[in-house]
Amino acid sequence: MAPRTFFIKTFGCQMNEHDSQKIGGLLANLGFEPTTQPETADLVLFNTCTVRQKAHQKAFSEIGRAIAFKNSEPRTSNLEPRLIGVCGCVAQDQGAKLISRFQGLDLVFGPDQIYRLPELLEILQKTKKPVLATELINSAEDYHFLDDVAATKLSGPSAYVTIMKGCNSRCSYCIVPKVRGTEVYRTAREIIKEIEFLVEKGCREVTLLGQNVNSYPDFSKLIRLISENTNVERIRFTSPHPKDVKDDLIEEYATNPKLCSHIHLPVQSGSDTVLKRMRRAYNRRTYLKKVESLKKARPGLGITTDVIVGFPQESDEEFNQTLLFLKEVQFDNIFAFKYSPREATEAYSMEDDVPMTLKEERLAKVLELQNAISKKINQHYVGGTQEVLVERNDRMATRRWMGRTSCHKIVNFTGKKTSIGDIVRVEVTKANSNSLEGNLYGT
Ligand code: SAH
Ligand code: SF4
Ligand code: F3S
Repeated sequence: MAPRTFFIKTFGCQMNEHDSQKIGGLLANLGFEPTTQPETADLVLFNTCTVRQKAHQKAFSEIGRAIAFKNSEPRTSNLEPRLIGVCGCVAQDQGAKLISRFQGLDLVFGPDQIYRLPELLEILQKTKKPVLATELINSAEDYHFLDDVAATKLSGPSAYVTIMKGCNSRCSYCIVPKVRGTEVYRTAREIIKEIEFLVEKGCREVTLLGQNVNSYPDFSKLIRLISENTNVERIRFTSPHPKDVKDDLIEEYATNPKLCSHIHLPVQSGSDTVLKRMRRAYNRRTYLKKVESLKKARPGLGITTDVIVGFPQESDEEFNQTLLFLKEVQFDNIFAFKYSPREATEAYSMEDDVPMTLKEERLAKVLELQNAISKKINQHYVGGTQEVLVERNDRMATRRWMGRTSCHKIVNFTGKKTSIGDIVRVEVTKANSNSLEGNLYGT
């Protein structure tokens, strides 16, 4: 019999990307092979995101399309019917509603239930009825971080490592705590064991993952332990919360060369009154102070952020504060979003009163300003050399490579003698707003 194949499409953040890698590992253990063609796959999975309404809608339309395809085309090549499953945050949020809405959907499981996938597939095989598993697991004793499968799926020199799950903050706009549950932490021992394994397989850089990654108890100590007890060369993490950036983490930037020169520190707004309504637990002054200390601890630190425009009652004046803030901090890059009301969040009961056209206008202004700032910052790199971890080779042109600097900038460069996984020096010759270009040093 031909091997069974699976296709998985991933939406949303790095947690989802990494969850998809773990799902791939579990399925490989069951004898499934990955395919890039959903039309022929025996199992089609959508790992979904619901952070904004648009992501939710996208998931619904993709599922609808796949179901329509399944129901319109009886399979001839295989005896088994094609299976369709939804996981991730829309699955967690919608649960049984998905099964009643999409006739022909086989499987719905939440992020905390991934470890049960083999069992769920078995139940499905037996009962031939849709299977639902959306219980949140909020205790360390019962949580499965899937250490072994996570570690086997190394693709390239850089790997994600989950250190925690869930989020105990309650930002008023955010649905993540609802769909990811409360915080559960992996032990440092398990984390180090996984990283050691990854390094043995050729990994040179890890990104520690968590929805609120620096609320991990003794976070800076964890970074220190990883540096001292493994041979990994670069350590990153995402996403930290500004309120949990403490002196010891700042000190780590001053003293630990393995910690990369980058921090993604979501600010959301530059207005104190908006930050208060968002329940972010810091203000522009305290955020700025932390940024200054970080930059002092690590000269050349790359700082990126997230911004939401059009939060309920955001006035012109409040929005201007955000523009001024971006000018003041000079972020390397930002992700900017229009506020999107999410059911069961605190902000959902506030009137979504900034008109869509105004949200769009504000988004465009933020992006235009940031574009200019990013371009100007990147320009400083031209003429210098940067240390780059080589991540990819352009298949069309063998001498074209892509890698990242310590401060997380993408560098596309030309060079003969290098391979994926090398850490090389690149002479930067050109700056774009989202990347740098250059040549391998000495060629
Ligand atoms: N846990 C991470 C990120 C969570 S979601 C953190 O706290 O940093 C990623 C980003 O999506 C957030 O930083 C925020 O900018 C944006 N976001 C979250 N909820 C949103 C909403 N309801 N509308 C618009 N953007 C939102
Ligand atoms: Fe959402 Fe706030 Fe938690 Fe981030 S810290 S996941 S924005 S509630
Ligand atoms: Fe989206 Fe879930 Fe991540 S809602 S942003 S995939 S935690």
